Amino acid sequence: MSLLLSRCINSVVFRRGLATKAEVQIISRNRWLKYLGLGTASTALLLTAALEHSVAGGDLELHPPHLPWSHGGTFQALDHSSIRRGYEVYKQVCSACHSMRFIAYRNLIDVSHTEAEAKREAEEIMVTDGPNEEGLMFQRAGKLSDYFPSPYANDEAARAANNGAFPPDLSYITAARHGGEDYVFALLTGYCDAPAGIALREGQYFNPYFPGGAISMAQALYNEVIEYSDGTPPTASQMAKDVSTFLKWAAEPEHDTRKQMALKCTMMFSMLAVITYYLKRHKWSSLKSRKIAFKPK
Ligand code: HEC
Repeated sequence: MSLLLSRCINSVVFRRGLATKAEVQIISRNRWLKYLGLGTASTALLLTAALEHSVAGGDLELHPPHLPWSHGGTFQALDHSSIRRGYEVYKQVCSACHSMRFIAYRNLIDVSHTEAEAKREAEEIMVTDGPNEEGLMFQRAGKLSDYFPSPYANDEAARAANNGAFPPDLSYITAARHGGEDYVFALLTGYCDAPAGIALREGQYFNPYFPGGAISMAQALYNEVIEYSDGTPPTASQMAKDVSTFLKWAAEPEHDTRKQMALKCTMMFSMLAVITYYLKRHKWSSLKSRKIAFKPK
């Protein structure tokens, strides 16, 4: 670009008769030297900045690797059998400590369960409702409109049962953590022995993916802690993958519709772009092909 510009300027200067050919050559050599100086200076600056970053060794956190999720592509939908299995993992393992206050049983319909199945899931829980005609609260079986039950009455009870650490609500966890479902998967499968020099307090476990390394959640997934209803072998990594997919859906229920919409829009707008281009050429053709001649009398 700058090369083109300088050529242009040179030729104008030369044609206008403002400089001789030799002078133009000197001008352009000086300009090139200036560019060379600027280039060297900025490269040196960038290199210094890069080095400054690379020697920052204080970061002890392990970043989760990016996994090839089946829903990773631009137009790929979530794996709904995986969501269904993930729900089973959440219900049988994670829901002992974690709430999902923002997900209702009706949300499962046509995502992972049929309406009848979702109703059956809801009926398994007891919900406090009321007051009735006598002004008393009463217990009833859950309905489709009910939200997932919380394992603890309040945040304080949750802390008290978990050594003072609060198990966060999982409804939006993949959106709330850097790395999303990659992080959740890495966290669930990443437990290992603490390296030498790291002291863990009572009730803490070592997980390199958790900021700081010391997490108050014990490893929750081991091979065969649950049994899948579809017969998939329940290995720890399978369960971690399924529950991560389920949590991804929970945090982003519009995921599939969004990608479907993107596909439709891309097709629609590319068609419109072709038509617009043709119409523009058409409308301007008379103007563009017009020839204006000046004929002195
Ligand atoms: C025995 C109780 C218990 C179970 C079971 C449990 N968790 Fe946790 N979880 C916790 C506690 C307590 C914390 C808070 C840890 C902390 O802050 O140190 C936590 C934290 C988390 C976090 C957040 C970590 C962060 O970055 O803040 C995620 C994600 C998580 N759990 C996912 C799960 C999933 C998925 C399951 C089911 C497979 C599960 N947990 C099962 C107790 C539990």
